[in-house]
Amino acid sequence: MTEAVRFEDKVVIVTGAGGGLGRAHALLFAQHGAKVVVNDLGGSTHGEGANASAADKVVAEIRAAGGTAVANHDSVTDGGKIVQNALDAFGRIDVVVNNAGILRDKSFVKMEDADWDLVYKVHVEGAYKVTHAAWPHLREQNFGRVIFTASTSGIYGNFGQSNYGMAKLGLYGLTRTLAIEGRKNNILVNAIAPTGGTRMTEGLIPPQVFEQLKPELVSPLVVFLGSEACEETGGLFEVGGGWMGKVRWERSLGAGFDPRAGFSPDDVAANFARICDFEGAAHPKDNIEAMKEMMANLQKYAG
Ligand SMILES: NC(=O)c1ccc[n+]([C@@H]2O[C@H](COP(=O)([O-])OP(=O)(O)OC[C@H]3O[C@@H](n4cnc5c(N)ncnc54)[C@H](O)[C@@H]3O)[C@@H](O)[C@H]2O)c1
Repeated sequence: MTEAVRFEDKVVIVTGAGGGLGRAHALLFAQHGAKVVVNDLGGSTHGEGANASAADKVVAEIRAAGGTAVANHDSVTDGGKIVQNALDAFGRIDVVVNNAGILRDKSFVKMEDADWDLVYKVHVEGAYKVTHAAWPHLREQNFGRVIFTASTSGIYGNFGQSNYGMAKLGLYGLTRTLAIEGRKNNILVNAIAPTGGTRMTEGLIPPQVFEQLKPELVSPLVVFLGSEACEETGGLFEVGGGWMGKVRWERSLGAGFDPRAGFSPDDVAANFARICDFEGAAHPKDNIEAMKEMMANLQKYAG
C-alpha cells in the first residue's frame, strides 16, 4: 500500500526533539521518508544547562531504523544556526516544527522577571528566530509547512502558568498572521495544543493517565500538518491520548448602541447578559469578517 503522507527529498527541522513530544515527531517524520534535523539544547525542564546527548541519541535511533537525520545542539534562540545546519546538511528546508519548550511555573504574585523572560525567550523568541530564518527559503521554493506548539494553558489559562500561557497563546497569534502572509507561497502554518506524558508533565498528571498519554499519539497530526497532503492553514488543534479536535474563536452576536447619542456604563450593565449570550454566535474567519457587526452598527445609526 502506498501512503499519501510521504516526505522523500523533504527536510524537516524539529526543535526540542531530544525527548518527549519532539522526539516522537522526529521519529515519525523520519519513518515517512523525511530528512530530519533533530535540534535539542539538552537542558533541564527549567531551561538550565545543556547536553548534546539528547539530540545525538534520537539521531542514532533514526539511523538505526534506516532513516536520515543530523543532530543540532543550538538553542532555538539561535534559530539562524539551526536553519543553516539544515541547509549545510541537506541543502534545503521544507518543514519547521517549533516544539522546544521549558517551564518556570509560579503564581503571578511570586513571578520574577527572569521566569517571565526565559519562558518568553525559549517559546516565543525561539520559535520566531527559527521560523524567521527558514521563511525566505520556504517563500523561494513556494512550499513550506510550519507547526507551532501552543498549549491549553494558553487557550484556557492555568494557575501558576501566566508566563507560559502568555507565550503559548502568543504563538497562536503568530500562527494566524503567518498563515495569512504565507498563503500565496503555499506556506501553511498551524498550531497544536498537545497533551503528552513527558518529563514536563511527570508528577502533574496522575501516573495511570500519564502512562497512556504517549507522546507518539500526538505525532501523526503533526506529521500530517507538515505534509503536502495538508491544505489547512491557521488552525489550532488540541491533541493527545489518541484524540484530536479543532479549536476556533466564537463571538456572541453582541449588542449595539447609538455611537452618536452615546451610552453609559449602566447601558452596558443592562445589556451585559446579551453581550455575553452565545446563542447563534458568529465565527469570524478574518479581520474583515470580524468588523462586520461593528460597521453595521455604525451604518444603522448614521445620519
Ligand atoms: N507534554 C504536554 O502535555 C504539553 C502540553 C502543552 C504543551 N506542550 C509543549 O510541547 C512541547 C514539547 O514538550 P514536552 O512535553 O515534550 O517536554 P520535554 O521537556 O520532554 O521537551 C522539550 C524539549 O525542548 C528542549 N529545549 C528546551 N529549551 C530549548 C532551547 N532553548 N533550544 C532547543 N531545545 C530546547 C528540551 O531540551 C527538551 O528536550 C513544549 O513546547 C511544551 O511547552 C507540552
